[in-house]
Amino acid sequence: MLEVLVLHGPNLNLLGQREPEVYGSLTLEGINRLLDSEARSLKVKVSSFQSNHEGALVDAIHQARGRYVGLLINAGAYTHTSVAIRDAIAAVAIPTVEVHLSNIYRRESFRHHSYIAPVAVGQISGFGAESYRLGLHALVSALGD
Ligand code: DQA
Repeated sequence: MLEVLVLHGPNLNLLGQREPEVYGSLTLEGINRLLDSEARSLKVKVSSFQSNHEGALVDAIHQARGRYVGLLINAGAYTHTSVAIRDAIAAVAIPTVEVHLSNIYRRESFRHHSYIAPVAVGQISGFGAESYRLGLHALVSALGD
């Protein structure tokens, strides 16, 4: 069975408590459950990993090589700052879909730029937890192409 790695970046461990008016009330565990059920219907397997540390995310991307056929990533604030995460995705060349709960283009201008977007197949932003479900769907469909 195809396996996809879901990466959650900094502060996403606080989902449910963190600015619920921006990020919704679902916890990270809730999002992972939603992804598990979507994965079952798409007949793929997902594993997920959250870290508040840039290097740990880079390591996880390196270790994904040869094990996972796709990456679904919400890099949180590292989206807007991390050349290292972008380079890791480019290095492993695993098809990647970028997701965001909030619509980053409706928010502060520092969130309008993503270092990850140019190395991703595509980006889904602004649909809350649904962004993840849509993102997994889009990733699996891109893998089939
Ligand atoms: C986020 C958007 C980022 O700008 C922010 O730093 C996050 C979450 C989102 O999912 O909407 O931590 O990636």
